[in-house]
Amino acid sequence: MHKPVDVFNFNIPIFSEIGKKSFLLACGSMNHHNCMTVGWAGLGYLWRKPMVFIYVRPQRYTYQFMEQYDYFSLNFFSDLFADILQLCGTKSGREINKMNIPGLTVKEIAGQTIYYNEAHTAIICKKVYYDDLKAEHFLEKSFLNLYPSNDFHRIYYGEVLKILQNNP
Ligand SMILES: Cc1cc2nc3c(=O)[nH]c(=O)nc-3n(C[C@H](O)[C@H](O)[C@H](O)COP(=O)(O)O)c2cc1C
Repeated sequence: MHKPVDVFNFNIPIFSEIGKKSFLLACGSMNHHNCMTVGWAGLGYLWRKPMVFIYVRPQRYTYQFMEQYDYFSLNFFSDLFADILQLCGTKSGREINKMNIPGLTVKEIAGQTIYYNEAHTAIICKKVYYDDLKAEHFLEKSFLNLYPSNDFHRIYYGEVLKILQNNP
């Protein structure tokens, strides 16, 4: 069962969880939500708040949810869930029903967002700011090779409201 942990003493190997592995970004309500695998993100401190930075390309189905809803969650899993992360990172919610993924149990924080019962850690966030990456702002021009279609990410800044962990 998930328990809330102290945000300021929360402890997971973050560059391993984000950089070497990946996680699920989920957004929406119990009856209308979607998720996708994410590999680029940041956690930090801004405007006197613990903050998450998440990068979503506009063609993602999840983008529509991120635009519509005020809250979202980051869901971190053990390696046993690699197949699910692979699925959610290669198939769109436009093609498969991501509200009913075998092996994932959806939980809702009423009025905010959903997260997954199987996640070892779920970070619940409230959108507070967004911005779009711009070609002319890239000082390292080689990174522009990652955007052959000019589909620059929208960055969502999410204030961390709660961190839930299984067996903390
Ligand atoms: C390991 C991995 C990391 C990914 N990271 C991101 C990311 O940070 N931002 C993004 O927009 N897409 C990312 N993607 C791509 C989306 O997960 C993928 O396009 C997904 O099918 C989108 O689903 P949706 O259309 O249901 O939103 C990643 C995919 C994988 C496999």
